[in-house]
Amino acid sequence: MTNLQIFLDIATEAALAAGAVLQGYLGKLEDAITEKGRPGDLVTVADKASEAVILEILHRHFPQHSILAEESGKLGNQDNQYLWAIDPLDGTTNYAHQYSAFAVSIGLLVNGVPQVGVIYDPFHDELFRAATGLGATRNRHAIKVSEISELSKSLLVTGFAYDRRETSDNNYAEFCHLTHLTQGVRRSGSAALDLAYVACGRVDGYWERGISPWDVVAGVVLLREAGGEVTAYDGTPFKIASGRILATNGKIHEKLSRELVEVPPLSSWK
Ligand code: IPD
Ligand code: CA
Ligand code: CA
Repeated sequence: MTNLQIFLDIATEAALAAGAVLQGYLGKLEDAITEKGRPGDLVTVADKASEAVILEILHRHFPQHSILAEESGKLGNQDNQYLWAIDPLDGTTNYAHQYSAFAVSIGLLVNGVPQVGVIYDPFHDELFRAATGLGATRNRHAIKVSEISELSKSLLVTGFAYDRRETSDNNYAEFCHLTHLTQGVRRSGSAALDLAYVACGRVDGYWERGISPWDVVAGVVLLREAGGEVTAYDGTPFKIASGRILATNGKIHEKLSRELVEVPPLSSWK
């Protein structure tokens, strides 16, 4: 068995265990929901319990690896060859409202490059897995991106970061512009599921600004292994630290990139 296969299997064990924790707390949070700082940026007892389970499993199997986890922050040397990027509950706002779009996302960067990704949606029991060179699966069946090549026939998905009230660079203009050019733009509230859905062909493209490594490392591996493309908005190589991502089935990539670069200002809308 290759190292990547081992990492993938242990990440799967962790994601399934974390998913069971999330299912256990669903609908039982009562007042165990707090804001982290910005309005709407929630954290719950379930986020923390899910993360604890993931960290225990990864530490036990890979004590030499480092971690970047949403709730615990940086654990170990962040320049380590192996760095896990963990979102124990992607879609916390949905989860707190019992809206069923949320997931566990566990990705592994090897020398800074996303190489392993597991996204688990416990509500629908959908397990997305991928590792570089090993393909992408949903519930153990191979997946691939859609064949849609026209924006006018495409369905897209995006998201709005928690700083949206503080900046005019808040993705509203992009959302309006692309809503007009396509069959629709969804806002699921889970970046990890957005990437997984592009990977399995349910939507044709996804873009977002203000994302963190734990939101997208796993999904980037999944999408690339499913035949999709991931870049910066302008088509140049994707840089995690930029917080911006353009991820598509590859066939609409250039067209969507052009529209994102040339989006008209919101003030031009009636
Ligand atoms: C959020 C979700 C959402 C995205 C936000 C993320 P969280 O993650 O992925 O879809 O639009 O930018 O922060 O806070 O639910 O883990
Ligand atoms: Ca997240
Ligand atoms: Ca989260």
